[in-house]
Amino acid sequence: MIDKNKLDSLFKEAQTAALKAYAPYSHFRVGAALLCEDGTIVTGVNVENRSYGLTVCAERNTICSAVGRGLLKFSALAISTPDSVEPVGPCGACRQVMGEFMGPEAPVRFAGSGEKTVDTTVGELLPLDSLHELKK
Ligand code: THU
Repeated sequence: MIDKNKLDSLFKEAQTAALKAYAPYSHFRVGAALLCEDGTIVTGVNVENRSYGLTVCAERNTICSAVGRGLLKFSALAISTPDSVEPVGPCGACRQVMGEFMGPEAPVRFAGSGEKTVDTTVGELLPLDSLHELKK
């Protein structure tokens, strides 16, 4: 179980990361911070492309970067969207990738620049997750 202070500091890492987002088309910066089971924190941002469809979200960039570093077990994810006042939740593709590497109980926090913070879990974001039987 991850405590509130740890989630607060993870969210601060996501806020700092968001400043490095490459979002010249949407001007919508997203930063993510992933707490790995060994205590490592991996951060990432959305990276857009002039061929719009090639854009990769902050959450997926972060998870893929952690996997590339040999990290596969994740305890929590925080997401910051400083260009929206209200919290903006992860897109469907990112939820699916979160479900690949994080258990349903894993906490996810997201917030914009306003007061409101959403504290949820991977299971709430991706209910009825399936296809587990393919992993053998
Ligand atoms: N974006 C993310 O980084 N994560 C999400 O879950 C939703 C959307 C990015 C993609 C694009 O660069 C910008 O936000 C606007 O959609």
